[in-house]
Amino acid sequence: MPDSVAGQCTRHELTSCKKEAGNVEDVVDLNGGRSADNAKRLENSATDEQMLRGHVVSTLDAIMRQPLVYRMWMAPFAKKKFAPIAAHNDLGLIRRVLDVGCGPGTNADYFGCNDYLGVDLNEQYIRDAEKRYGASQGRRRFLTADVGKFVAPPGERFDFVLVNSFLHHVDDLTTRTILLNLSNLLTEDGHVHILDLVLPGSTSVARFLAQTDRGEFPRPLEKWHQIFSESFEPEVFEPYDLGACGVGLWKMVYFKGKSRI
Ligand SMILES: C[S@@+](CC[C@H](N)C(=O)[O-])C[C@H]1O[C@@H](n2cnc3c(N)ncnc32)[C@H](O)[C@@H]1O
Repeated sequence: MPDSVAGQCTRHELTSCKKEAGNVEDVVDLNGGRSADNAKRLENSATDEQMLRGHVVSTLDAIMRQPLVYRMWMAPFAKKKFAPIAAHNDLGLIRRVLDVGCGPGTNADYFGCNDYLGVDLNEQYIRDAEKRYGASQGRRRFLTADVGKFVAPPGERFDFVLVNSFLHHVDDLTTRTILLNLSNLLTEDGHVHILDLVLPGSTSVARFLAQTDRGEFPRPLEKWHQIFSESFEPEVFEPYDLGACGVGLWKMVYFKGKSRI
């Protein structure tokens, strides 16, 4: 909660502040006045709430890091999320795929006939993906690495670079660095394909879900367009809804672009 609110609440206002600050009953001055003590205690309540939120998010994060949990959570949405890529591209023509932030191989099934390399920071995801796809399918490889520092072997290039639901996990500077690096890894005829979470401007379920996502950096559409276009010439920029049973839950965007280099 902003300091200005914590420091200026009247008794009446405190009732509404309660929603933001948590349990505020014990902060009200019995004399009906304001006091520095009250403000301080209200502020502490807000900090407590932020800490609680932090705990909830990190607990959820720890749970979602488990490959099986993540795969079960993603299962109803993975195909719909990937739909714009399937609609705009002939996957049969792809030669070499780099899947950036590949998770536990969520998208690997689309690239059974292609040379495929999936990279992710979470070793558990990579082990899970290897178990399911690795050993028996020589053309699919998985690597544990920080994409921000990933350097492909010299001369290794990809005509299909997939970045699915990854960039809203990294800040602007890192996002720009990664995209520039990826633009260097594309073949001349290759494309980057990005699917990511949009932060809608107006109050809505989609905005709430974007704000409470594990990834801290969902961005407005215009911001995504700007960031993508710095490293790639746009060919497709297509917003779409992702949801279940006809109800839109998340706002997403698909971007396809060629390297500017
Ligand atoms: C929302 S998941 C998306 C996974 C997968 N692309 C999918 O479509 O299901 C984001 C992924 O990014 C990975 N990740 C986050 N930061 C990373 C980094 N710096 N380098 C590589 N992977 C990272 C996480 O481990 C996680 O698997």
